[in-house]
Amino acid sequence: MPPFRVIHISDTHLSRHRAWFVPNFQAMAGIISDVYPDLVVNTGDISFDGANREDDLAFSRMCHARLDVPFCAVPGNHDVGDNPWSPGIAPAITEPRLGRYREQFGPDHWMLDAGHWVLIGLNVQLFGSGLPAETEQWTFLTAAAAKARGRPVALFVHKPLFHERADEAEVSHRYVPPDHRGRVLDLLGPGLQLVASGHVHQHRRLRVDGIAHCWAPSTAFVLPDHRQPRLGTKHIGYIDYAFHEDRVDVRVVEPSQLTNHDLDEFPEAYQH
Ligand SMILES: [Fe+2]
Ligand SMILES: [Fe+2]
Repeated sequence: MPPFRVIHISDTHLSRHRAWFVPNFQAMAGIISDVYPDLVVNTGDISFDGANREDDLAFSRMCHARLDVPFCAVPGNHDVGDNPWSPGIAPAITEPRLGRYREQFGPDHWMLDAGHWVLIGLNVQLFGSGLPAETEQWTFLTAAAAKARGRPVALFVHKPLFHERADEAEVSHRYVPPDHRGRVLDLLGPGLQLVASGHVHQHRRLRVDGIAHCWAPSTAFVLPDHRQPRLGTKHIGYIDYAFHEDRVDVRVVEPSQLTNHDLDEFPEAYQH
């Protein structure tokens, strides 16, 4: 059986109004058309500011609708607001923001078959929100884990689970909060083989407790060192996965067709 091919893109930060990163997405769409994978997954920050501008979500959806292969997404903090990891987070995830995202992109959590593998997408922005959707997602994950038992699982999320170890106690903007991370790992158990994430705009690979973690680069821009510590590789690109029955091959690609933007080139973007 040929492997199930997934192209994992992330942090596309698309907007009709602030269209700086649209050419990179268009170049990426050309690459997707050439590779013709079984699936494309975008792990969030699909839009530049969809949490505050509905049209950023609508425009991002339109860009992805032009892809000629199946497509799934999970939302990021710029699409639905952030999980309230600290008091006074703005914009925080709310029911209306989530509703606007779902109108454009459909379910914010999902499970699908990829040959022998099971792929699960989760909206980690919900964690700690107390919204009814958070409870519904835990119910979904419990059922999905039971259904996937005996098969390898790959999890797609916006934020990486942690920096080095699952038992890290520090709470930050960058990672899934410790309690929620622990619950996800407990529910998925030993079937979980791969955690694929975005959010940091850096590529990093690590293996912890038998699980491979892969941080996808952004297709849009990297953050300069004076704004963000260097934890992995700062270069725009995407991840190419080949899911074989007994393993997954992971490859980072930094295509020359995309411009390696640095956020400092755009003084009007995210300077607050
Ligand atoms: Fe991002
Ligand atoms: Fe993000």
